[in-house]
Amino acid sequence: MSRSAHPAGPRHGDVLPEGHYTAPPADLNRLDEKVWSRTVARTADGVVTVGGIEVTRLAEEFGTPAYFLDEADFRARCRAWADAFGPDADVFYAGKAFLSRAVVRWLKEEGLNLDVCSGGELVCALDAGMPAERIAFHGNNKSTEEIERAVEAGVGRIVLDSFQEIVRVAHIAQSRGRRQRVQIRVTVGVEAHTHEFIATAHEDQKFGIALAGGQAAEAVRRALKLDGLELIGIHSHIGSQIFDMAGFEVSARRVVQLLAAVRDEHGVELPEIDLGGGLGIAYTSDDDPREPHEIAKALSEIVTRECEAAGLRTPRISVEPGRAIVGPTAFTLYEVGTVKPLEGLRTYVSVDGGMSDNIRTALYDAEYSVALASRASDAEPMLSRVVGKHCESGDIVVRDAFLPADVAPGDLVAVPATGAYCRSMASNYNHALRPPVVAVRDGEARVIVRRETEEDLLRLDVG
Ligand code: LLP
Repeated sequence: MSRSAHPAGPRHGDVLPEGHYTAPPADLNRLDEKVWSRTVARTADGVVTVGGIEVTRLAEEFGTPAYFLDEADFRARCRAWADAFGPDADVFYAGKAFLSRAVVRWLKEEGLNLDVCSGGELVCALDAGMPAERIAFHGNNKSTEEIERAVEAGVGRIVLDSFQEIVRVAHIAQSRGRRQRVQIRVTVGVEAHTHEFIATAHEDQKFGIALAGGQAAEAVRRALKLDGLELIGIHSHIGSQIFDMAGFEVSARRVVQLLAAVRDEHGVELPEIDLGGGLGIAYTSDDDPREPHEIAKALSEIVTRECEAAGLRTPRISVEPGRAIVGPTAFTLYEVGTVKPLEGLRTYVSVDGGMSDNIRTALYDAEYSVALASRASDAEPMLSRVVGKHCESGDIVVRDAFLPADVAPGDLVAVPATGAYCRSMASNYNHALRPPVVAVRDGEARVIVRRETEEDLLRLDVG
């Protein structure tokens, strides 16, 4: 294996081409604890470890690409959220970020609830033993079958997203002699400062019922009249990967205003509000996420203040973090296949995965970090683009990052903060086999989602 330096690409002191990066970090071997899960470290000879296991051993045993999930970190984050919000609030982990039976068991053990948004997620949750009353069922177009399953299972709440659904859920519940606990999802008209595709509270998009123009008040009016429904509260989710609490503040204020209007009109104080998920995490050292206790404090202060002003009892608050719990707990391990220096531009480092295991860079222009993981290196920083093996020039995993200039085929590189929306959005593009998720804890590694096989692919192909 060649370890020679690649001369192409800018170095210290050069004028750098356009990109999303700042200067190269002082020490490329250092693992910034902001972006790496808690038990990640480097051994004295430079190999990255997680849960005490070297990535070189993990790659041998489980292959690459693979996601390695730090179970201790996942559990610690669950506890941090539960402790921060305390007994008078509920934390629902958003399963869309990443869901598997093992994850459901961890959530159950750590006292969290679960938000699901499809029949598939519901089946996974129930199969792994999550009590139905701890499940919230979401979605802007739930099928009749999905609603029937959710009602029959006895889920703790269904979040209603349209006028049609109010009637549908009421009918299904009533025909089974049930009264289904529901919330109404409203759009509060907030422009969250995040990528357009993951902002959800402005009015011109598909989710929820607008507060503006009295739509949400009308939805409440209708829901309160139906025997099959027990309206327990109002729900608002403003978007994802948000750092600024201002959007949550506006959202909470507007939701409380609706509660006050409902009280004035119907004499009913709805007992709950859900402020959704969307809290940002650090993908690179430039990101500064907030800790759960700061978020809990900020949200409960806003709600308490607004309720006092409106003369309302403070409702029970719930939140739905997905990314903030699982995102930082995993990294993707890849093997480098080719290294292509483009003079004066950057060096393309191709790995054995790509947009099929991480679509976020292509889809949202997401930024990631990367580290040489199988060894340390003292070579110069080299501006690199980590790309996959798919047939698209947009198949980029890490758009702009510095790797040591001696990175070479056979090296392992790790991309941190891939726990959320990577395996759950993975695809079989180019008949790629979706990578496994391996949970690592206290020196032990076990597969929780196995690698797909060619037989898996062919089994679906029945033509
Ligand atoms: N609650 C609701 C109603 C949601 O729609 C979502 C995310 C969450 C909670 C959890 O949001 P989180 O805390 O994970 O940001 N695929 C995109 C993110 C889509 C989020 C969809 N809804 C991405 O990779 O950035």
